[in-house]
Amino acid sequence: MSKDGNNQPTETWIAQELDDLRRAGLERRLRTWDTADLINFAGNDYLNLAQAPELRRAASEALAQWGAGATASRLLSGTLPLHTALENKLAQTKGYPAAVIFGSGYMANLGVITTLTGRHDLLVTDRLAHASIMDAAVLSRARLQRFRHNDPEHLEQILRRRPAGGRCLIVTESVFSMDGDCAPLPEIARLAGQYDAMLMVDEAHATGVFGPVGAGLVRAHGLEHMVNISMGTMSKALGSYGGFCACSPAVQALLVNRARPLIFSTAPPPSAMGAAMAALTHLEQHHACGGELLRRATAFRERLQAAGLNTGPSVSQIVPLIVGDNQAALNLSAALLRQGILAPAIRPPTVPPGSARLRFSITLAHSPELLAQTAEMIIKLAGEVGLS
Ligand SMILES: Cc1ncc(COP(=O)(O)O)c(C=O)c1O
Repeated sequence: MSKDGNNQPTETWIAQELDDLRRAGLERRLRTWDTADLINFAGNDYLNLAQAPELRRAASEALAQWGAGATASRLLSGTLPLHTALENKLAQTKGYPAAVIFGSGYMANLGVITTLTGRHDLLVTDRLAHASIMDAAVLSRARLQRFRHNDPEHLEQILRRRPAGGRCLIVTESVFSMDGDCAPLPEIARLAGQYDAMLMVDEAHATGVFGPVGAGLVRAHGLEHMVNISMGTMSKALGSYGGFCACSPAVQALLVNRARPLIFSTAPPPSAMGAAMAALTHLEQHHACGGELLRRATAFRERLQAAGLNTGPSVSQIVPLIVGDNQAALNLSAALLRQGILAPAIRPPTVPPGSARLRFSITLAHSPELLAQTAEMIIKLAGEVGLS
């Protein structure tokens, strides 16, 4: 039976759907990479911590002490002393009184948004908000309205027309995952206060990079008292795995009672929690690492821009090279791969149609010299495919 009810055999409609994707240049395949042999711009290990001896050691120690798995959900026996200690440390880092750990950042977004909004409520998100936020919107059954990317005026228009009754939650990322630009958080927070809306900020790409001790942009702007939820992930700059949100004790208590991804899924494993704890300690001891990463990314971006390449609105360690056409992005990515440079093409639906791009995630594994050489190679190959 087909998805849309035609009585086609399963294999036939699947083959057709895959064929459609292939012809549109949108087919995706899992590839196995031995990234040791490549210059990897596809990872989010921004501070180069995933392989750091201190994280490996902390993960091994947690594994030895608590075992390979947490064995139960948080509400049963899955909350180990390590989870509680890490929640306290995350809260302290983020400048909030409490924090809640989830299995992943994706699950944190699902859990928080579906807990704070329901069918009688309004959810207002940036148009480019991450897929996990969009999926949470569907699950929450709230009415969804999206404001133009980073446009507080449009957000205000929506808030002004907000229907009476029901709660309202605004959600934005602080650093956008595909453009590397930053949200105007102070304006958004002011509007949330003015229109009596809750505010949640997804700091997946800002955590570890921006702000004091890598706390992110909410804390860098001093907005902890205006942002109800500062969500983050341990799977990017913190080099480990798992998601979390920093919040008030009341929100924490409600999440423990209502957030289905926390209640109905096993707690994340001790080794990942140990590694994340070590990453937070690293941030306390190396205040300058986020700033150093941003300086390297700026130099890289400026080289591409000077050659006439389009890096969009990026101001962070995420540097897109906007190509436009899907096939052209695939071709440039393949040409770079032949030179040992891994920079995957990002195509719709991950980005809007007509804005296919290569996404370069700069990390501290990339030395300034390596970044300069890579930029030269990109400029040369982009010229060969007619981009500059
Ligand atoms: C903005 C944003 N939010 C949430 C997530 C989900 O985080 P995780 O990979 O920990 O599930 C990601 C990344 O995948 C992301 O880019």
